[in-house]
Amino acid sequence: MMNSVLECKNVSIEFGGLKAVNNFNLTIEKGELLGLIGPNGAGKTTVFNLISGVYNPTEGEIFLNEQKISNKSTSQIVKLGIARTFQNIRLFNKMTVLENVKVAANDSMSYGIFTGMFRLPKYWKEENEVNDRAIEMLKIFDLDKFWFMPAESLSYGQQRKLEIARAMATKPSLLLLDEPAAGMNPKETEELMNTIALIREKFNITILLIEHDMKLVLGISSRLMVLNYGQILAEGNPKEVINNPEVIKAYLGGGPSA
Ligand SMILES: Nc1ncnc2c1ncn2[C@@H]1O[C@H](COP(=O)(O)OP(=O)(O)O)[C@@H](O)[C@H]1O
Ligand SMILES: [Mg+2]
Repeated sequence: MMNSVLECKNVSIEFGGLKAVNNFNLTIEKGELLGLIGPNGAGKTTVFNLISGVYNPTEGEIFLNEQKISNKSTSQIVKLGIARTFQNIRLFNKMTVLENVKVAANDSMSYGIFTGMFRLPKYWKEENEVNDRAIEMLKIFDLDKFWFMPAESLSYGQQRKLEIARAMATKPSLLLLDEPAAGMNPKETEELMNTIALIREKFNITILLIEHDMKLVLGISSRLMVLNYGQILAEGNPKEVINNPEVIKAYLGGGPSA
C-alpha cells in the first residue's frame, strides 16, 4: 500500500434494501489510469459518489493518500485533491469559458477572506497563478480561443472537455471522470481519449475513468475493473478482462440497456 493514491476497503452502500455497491475493494497506485466499466446500473457512478463524498458508505472505509476520507464532506475532499466530472454536464452556462475554469481553481486556493478582501500580495500571486493554470488547461483542451464566450455557446463535445479542464484546474492528485465521452461522436471521442492520455502523462496524474463502452477505454487504461450488480466481476490487464467469458456474459445479458 506504499504509493497508493486511493484505497476503498470493503465499501458498501444500500439504498432502500438494494446494495448498489457491495463489498467494493480498490487500490489505485500513483500514475495509474484505471478504467471502471460495467453495464448500466452496475454501480459505477455510485462508486464515484462514495469516493467524492456525495454519499457516506453504509460499511467500509475510503482513504486518499492514506488519509481517511469516507467521513468527510465533498468540499473537504476537493481540497484534499480529488476532482471529478459528472455523467451529465454541470457548467455555469452564462459564465465565460475562462470563468468556469477559474471558479473551480479559486475553491482550492489558500488565502483567507482577509487577504482576499484587502487584495494583499498573496491574493494577487494566487490570482495570477489561477489565471495561468486556467489558460494552460484551456490550451490543452483546445478551448483557449473561446475563453471569453459563454459556456453554453460551446458545442456539446467542447463543453465536455471544458468540464475536464475545470476539474484539472484544482490540481487534483486523483481525477474521476464519469463517462466523459457520453454523447460525443466517434471523432470527438477519439480526440478526448488522446487528451486524457496526454494530461495523465503531462501532469503525472492518477485517473479513474468510468465508461460504459469498454472499447473506448481499452486503449488508454493501464488496468480495467468490471462492476456488475455492485460487485467486482473482473479486474486486471485490459485485454484479458474484456475477453473474460463472465464479462462478455454480463455485457450481453446484463443491465437494462447494456
Ligand atoms: N440515490 C439513489 N437512491 C436510490 N437508488 C440509487 C441511488 N443512486 C443509485 N441508485 C441505484 O443504484 C444502482 C447503481 O446505479 P449507478 O451507480 O448510477 O449505476 P451506473 O453508473 O453503473 O450506471 C442502480 O440500481 C440505481 O438505481
Ligand atoms: Mg453512471
